[in-house]
Amino acid sequence: MQLKKGESIQIEITKIAFGGAGMGHHEEKVVFVENTVPGDKISATLTKIKPNFLEAKLEEIIKPSSKRIAPKCAHFNECGGCSLQYLDYKEQLNFKESQVTEALEHIGGFKNPPVEKIIGCENPWFYRNKMEFSFSMNQTDQIFLGLHPKGYRYDVFELKECYLESNDIGILVGLVQKFAREKNLKAYDYKTNTGLLRTLTVREGKRTGERLINLVTSHEEFQYEKAFIELLTENDDIKKPTSIYITKHIAKKGDKTAFKAKNIFGKPALTEELHINTKKKLSFDILPDAFFQPNTLQAELLYNQVLALGKVTKRDTVYDLFCGTGTIGLFCAHKAKSVFGVDINKNAIENAEQNAKLNEVTNASYQAGDAFEIIKNREDKPNIIIVDPPRNGLGDILCKHLLEIGAKKIVYVSCNPATLSRDLKILCENKYKLTVVQPVDMVPHTYHIETVCKLDRL
Ligand SMILES: C[S@@+](CC[C@H](N)C(=O)[O-])C[C@H]1O[C@@H](n2cnc3c(N)ncnc32)[C@H](O)[C@@H]1O
Repeated sequence: MQLKKGESIQIEITKIAFGGAGMGHHEEKVVFVENTVPGDKISATLTKIKPNFLEAKLEEIIKPSSKRIAPKCAHFNECGGCSLQYLDYKEQLNFKESQVTEALEHIGGFKNPPVEKIIGCENPWFYRNKMEFSFSMNQTDQIFLGLHPKGYRYDVFELKECYLESNDIGILVGLVQKFAREKNLKAYDYKTNTGLLRTLTVREGKRTGERLINLVTSHEEFQYEKAFIELLTENDDIKKPTSIYITKHIAKKGDKTAFKAKNIFGKPALTEELHINTKKKLSFDILPDAFFQPNTLQAELLYNQVLALGKVTKRDTVYDLFCGTGTIGLFCAHKAKSVFGVDINKNAIENAEQNAKLNEVTNASYQAGDAFEIIKNREDKPNIIIVDPPRNGLGDILCKHLLEIGAKKIVYVSCNPATLSRDLKILCENKYKLTVVQPVDMVPHTYHIETVCKLDRL
């Protein structure tokens, strides 16, 4: 029978697919339905009909799965953030672990890949060290500050609570929104390049307790610096910031986008610590726009895994490719002979050099540029290579070059099981053996998965 868009179907959800949608079957075709969990019996309306899969919109949960729980946050239905909140945390972890195994089997062609039990968060709430909230007029004449609803780029919903960063975030966002309304400030409008307020970013040192607040404005002048400092520092209901910034984000068609950050209160950077073990800590000075793993406590566990899998010794020269601000390499430096870090982002490399100094690491050096271009011209041969690429992975050219270098060990940190599996297939075709795969949950309640793998040269 021919399937039609708009047709109502009844199915049972059997698993969660990569991307977080529930998956079931209808007339021998796979159906993806958002906001469903395995075990749910549902009715749904067909929205997309493709030769090998269908998409449908949830109409009704006829019988809820025993894995379904009540979402903690009042904004769950509108917010685009924590899409897995209705799934018990243990089940979220099972889902993530199985996603890694399946990607390695189906994309990488590995039989029985050596996937370890996923490392979950001890506390899956209030784990983020950075959140960004947006201003919008929401097509009214009043300004709003909050998060974007699912599928919306410009409008925001008014945030009352959020369990990702700190428990006073709802109050803080409400205060800044009230302040903007009292001063009659307008949200920046991307289409007309008018209006003042763009975003409010709140960074926190989970180990140090520091807080940096960055108000990002347009090219227009913000005339209320003193009042803004008073707002944030004189209210007992919110944690006092250690730094406040106003950053002008100037975007004009035809011109290069410019950022002008001004530190109007407190320290110029937020200091965060990463604990390698109970005795050894590293400190990082994080500027408002620098990349830092958003979950401090899990980053420690992730980097400790890299250290354990790399089994770095004083005889080892280590490459830290895609090093960002140097965190992983600095974790290894005290055990290694030397560390060489590469990142395409110049600011990140400057930050990495400062972080090495801050931690009195003298055996780490850095270079800004494309990882492939830089390593192909180097004469030294590392015996351990750590890679932590963005979502699109290494790609075949860099994989082939890693094969030519032939380090005794590669530790691959990945935020995308699909590109990881594709790359591992190339690396393990002849020269390397995949010996350990360790998934780590860095972002509970989302479908994102981090994985650390160890490859040993054959
Ligand atoms: C997932 S982040 C890893 C950051 C770092 N390892 C950490 O844990 O904080 C990926 C990094 O790759 C960098 N990058 C992207 N493309 C690159 C390339 N072609 N060559 C070198 N670095 C690149 C980005 O600037 C970013 O810092």
